[in-house]
Amino acid sequence: CGIVGYIGTKEAQGILLEGLSKLEYRGYDSAGLAVYNGETIGVRKAKGRLSNLEDKLAVHSLPGQLGIGHTRWATHGKPSDENSHPHVDNAGRFAVVHNGIIENYLELKEELIASGHQFTSETDTEVIAKLLAELWNGDLVSTVQQVVSRLEGAYALGIISEYEPDKLVAVRLASPLVVGVGEGENFVASDIPAILKHTRNVYILEDGEMAVLTADKVTLMKVDGTPVQRETMRVNWDIATAEKGGYDHFMLKEIHEQPKAIRDTLASRTKNGLVDLSKEISLSKEEIQNIEKIHFVACGTAYHAGMVGKYVFEELARIPVECDVASEYRYRNPIITERTLVIVVSQSGETADTLAALREAKKQGARVVAITNVVGSSVAREADDVIITWAGPEIAVASTKAYTSQLIAIYLLGVYFAQVRGHKSAAELQEIVTHLQELPGKAEQVLKLEKSIESFARSIAKHQNLFFLGRGLDFAVALEGSLKLKEISYIHSEAYAAGELKHGTLALIEENIPVISLATQKSVYDKMVSNIQEVKARGAHILGLAVEGDTELRKSVDEVIRIPATIDLLTPVLAVIPLQLIAYYACVERGYDVDKPRNLAKSVTVE
Ligand code: G6P
Repeated sequence: CGIVGYIGTKEAQGILLEGLSKLEYRGYDSAGLAVYNGETIGVRKAKGRLSNLEDKLAVHSLPGQLGIGHTRWATHGKPSDENSHPHVDNAGRFAVVHNGIIENYLELKEELIASGHQFTSETDTEVIAKLLAELWNGDLVSTVQQVVSRLEGAYALGIISEYEPDKLVAVRLASPLVVGVGEGENFVASDIPAILKHTRNVYILEDGEMAVLTADKVTLMKVDGTPVQRETMRVNWDIATAEKGGYDHFMLKEIHEQPKAIRDTLASRTKNGLVDLSKEISLSKEEIQNIEKIHFVACGTAYHAGMVGKYVFEELARIPVECDVASEYRYRNPIITERTLVIVVSQSGETADTLAALREAKKQGARVVAITNVVGSSVAREADDVIITWAGPEIAVASTKAYTSQLIAIYLLGVYFAQVRGHKSAAELQEIVTHLQELPGKAEQVLKLEKSIESFARSIAKHQNLFFLGRGLDFAVALEGSLKLKEISYIHSEAYAAGELKHGTLALIEENIPVISLATQKSVYDKMVSNIQEVKARGAHILGLAVEGDTELRKSVDEVIRIPATIDLLTPVLAVIPLQLIAYYACVERGYDVDKPRNLAKSVTVE
């Protein structure tokens, strides 16, 4: 979910709607606003996209200079007008927007019903509005503090009240929240793009903190009232980077931003053929030597980056690696010692399961390195060390440039460890660094293949099923290609380790079924070609992904795409780009919403 709030001298409605439009990537099954008009709080909500709410407001607007807004991704209760935020108490004196989950809401709800409050939604959030009315003590800040002391779970809240219309109160526990500081006006939002048009000076709230905003002042405190002093942070990205910049969709823009994202993520971390992460990684040489095992923990696309990480660290640093999805890891009692390094990978740095896994790992004594795209995110703040991927804001739900930058961060860390552990010679490592530096240019070359990839993608768009095959690192990339296709084009696809196909899945290969076969890894090339022949013999229509100079593969496949050659280890960065483009154009051909696939959210801050 995403929340915004405004207090100042301008009309709030337009500012809130615009802010919400920048947060739609956080979820978008319904939206709503509450604005104080000088006498009462008016509320409008609408199921579906933000435009539905805009339509309602075009008929009945909400005048006033104090307001809160919300874009929802359902957790408790289906998407509907009633379940949309803001929620209010029965007398309409308090309005609240909430991101997160209130775990004890059922028991609070029973208690509140018993004392006469009537509920109109199925949400957990509504209890907060009712609780504000129930515990009202004549002072907004202290009432909010009392309410918060009754809540269990994760939340970011924005609260306004008719009783004290000169204030907007924001609270954060385990869901992101920023405060924007303007002149004669102040803002709150789940994320910076929502307020960037108005101010570049922000406070990033920490867990357990609240902010009290008036038009002229922002006061930070802990939820128990202890004052908090902090400098504002100056945001130096350009607003245009958070916009589409001429492309039809954010996803296509972000695919094309990959050469830059790779270059930026490499920048200033390599010199004289060596990787230097000493400013970011506090582990001493001895501690790096002593690492016994590595756990990569992440969700979704970031998890697929971790799969590549397994190969990279085992190959370069000879450290045993496990890679697990965060929602499994956190509940399966993993074996962690002080010599375990846990690497969490998260674009947003706010994914609830990833954050919980990080905390669990730390509790059990592991060192934690975070690879994340968001400076100041929860994951970044809680890990021992952080490598930021400099991909810039990623708006499309389907992750592209964040993934390739995560791979770069993984390679850098892998080489850095290898330099210390000495399983590879300096010359071998230097060669890898040289190849890393060539990747931005090679990624640009891959993007030049867009037209032929587009025509292949459009040709498969009518199919309901498809397979991706690969061995070794190609298998890890196949998983990511398959996820991309599923999440935006809704074509069912499976990625298979090519050698495993004959143990069951081969039964599904029928005449003309599209099979995308990755054959970029020299070490398993011949084996891969044999697997391709197995599916060819069953009538599959095969697109082969090969490297430049490969003239062999064409003989076994129906169509071929050739990416620039690099070393096997680094090929995933280039191999994934055609697969991203296939997903993109298949989705466009099928006419679905590229940037906002159904049922999915960019940042999943609930379990
Ligand atoms: C969501 C997004 C995915 C993303 C995953 C992990 O499911 O839709 O694109 O890979 O979360 O997000 P993170 O921000 O932790 O990388």
